[in-house]
Amino acid sequence: MPGRVVPLSLLAVVCASDLFRSTLAFHPKVSTSSRTIPPSTTQLHAFGFLNGLLESGSKKTKAASSTKASALKQKLLAACSEDKPDRSIIEATIQELETLSPVTATASSPLLQKKWEMIWTTEKEINFFVERGFSSKIFQTIDGSVLTNNIPFIKGGSFNVTGSLSVPDIEGIRTEFTFSEAALDLAKWGTYKLPPVGKGWFDTLYLDDTLRVDLNSRNDILICKPDEA
Ligand SMILES: *[C@@H]1O[C@H](CO)[C@@H](O)[C@H](O)[C@H]1NC(C)=O
Repeated sequence: MPGRVVPLSLLAVVCASDLFRSTLAFHPKVSTSSRTIPPSTTQLHAFGFLNGLLESGSKKTKAASSTKASALKQKLLAACSEDKPDRSIIEATIQELETLSPVTATASSPLLQKKWEMIWTTEKEINFFVERGFSSKIFQTIDGSVLTNNIPFIKGGSFNVTGSLSVPDIEGIRTEFTFSEAALDLAKWGTYKLPPVGKGWFDTLYLDDTLRVDLNSRNDILICKPDEA
């Protein structure tokens, strides 16, 4: 956190400056009644002023990185909505963006727990349904330790895959999944249970309340936004 480092020389300059003195003069009343050993007024002012200085430094750093993150998010979404999205551009943008994720322990974050709509993915199985026109929106719901992929068909019915989740490291970004059931609902043609379809993991590289970016064990990228429906 570069904003927290205040060089001694700067402190010396600040303390000696008129700015510091006028800060003291500006807050003449300090209540010290609740303290057994009241710190001197000068100490209080000094702490208040320095805290302000430190905070404004770290706020500026945070604000700068969130501005940079939102620019990168826009770049990523634009790259995904191209006619022929370029994976290398998307990957490079994700690489920059992941360092700015406001959530670092993404796998155990409550922000991950919701119904997501897939914006873009390299997963062939999912793209199959979209490219053939069977489906227009794909959802993934994370509810506790249950994962559901839901591919609703435009003409009725759906394909769902359900699995269980576990997080190997609560400080980490990895979620492990094991699919336990797949159900194909072909509307009037009936519903079919299919055998489970594998297991793996996904790393949530970036997470905030409007965007989730994953890379999974098959080297597929998934980019999701919260379902607003
Ligand atoms: C698939 O999931 C959706 C949404 O959770 C649900 O409405 C639907 O009934 C499910 N279909 C099957 C076949 O399980």
